[in-house]
Amino acid sequence: MSVAPGEARAAQYDAIAVPYQRSKESPVRRYVEGYSFFSLLGEVGGLAVLDLACGEGCYTRQLRQRGAARVLGVDISTAMIELARSQLRAGEAGIEYLVHDVQDLPALGRFDVATAAYLLHYARDSGELGRMCRSIARQLPAGGRLVAINENPQQPEARYGGYLRYGFSKSVATPRCEGSPITYAMASGRELFRFEVYHYERATYEAALAAAGFTDIRWHPLQLDPQGLALMGAEYWSEYLDNPPVVGLTARRAP
Ligand SMILES: C[S@@+](CC[C@H](N)C(=O)[O-])C[C@H]1O[C@@H](n2cnc3c(N)ncnc32)[C@H](O)[C@@H]1O
Repeated sequence: MSVAPGEARAAQYDAIAVPYQRSKESPVRRYVEGYSFFSLLGEVGGLAVLDLACGEGCYTRQLRQRGAARVLGVDISTAMIELARSQLRAGEAGIEYLVHDVQDLPALGRFDVATAAYLLHYARDSGELGRMCRSIARQLPAGGRLVAINENPQQPEARYGGYLRYGFSKSVATPRCEGSPITYAMASGRELFRFEVYHYERATYEAALAAAGFTDIRWHPLQLDPQGLALMGAEYWSEYLDNPPVVGLTARRAP
């Protein structure tokens, strides 16, 4: 029996939903990834937010806690969405979850901002990347923002490797080219799990976003939460921040 691409992508995350959830507790997730993501987003009080590739809802919940009026989390993986829903408190309002492939979203409502922490690099080719970007643009009004954390296209392949202190490693078959699969191996407790994303150059992302109607496309370096610096010391963070595997990416729906 053949497996549709969307099902294969969902299966990858269905299988690792619980260990992935645990990996979000690591210092690098909280003090660099989360801090960078929320710094790029800025004030979310009163906003309607579409959290794409929400996984088990780590950022969806935090968006609501930070005052977003309404947050809709969307993910292709049923297991991830079940895990997200299981963490809703009884009667909790303003937060909802749906299973969808971002490449093919129906009209989901009116949103001020769409977030995409680790989504675009799951596109398996430039066609899928284009479909994701067009689908996201359709959910936003003119001026609506997209805030993403994404693979760092400018990280040289020679600098992939172990981030063992932070509990993961990153590898690619060389020579790396457009669309090359990148493998992440992550430790979570005593388990090791893997998943694959894809490499694209900055220009490929920028072209896909521009063609979908986004403007003001910007890449942003990661930022370290001063609390994380105080807690772990500069040396702890240097290996990650001197060779960042991911970056921030923002864009705005053109008027
Ligand atoms: C690394 S997780 C990130 C989860 C969450 N944003 C976070 O930062 O904790 C990536 C998620 O992207 C989802 N995903 C991958 N391709 C997708 C697609 N085409 N549509 C919707 N979700 C997708 C996966 O199922 C997975 O839950």
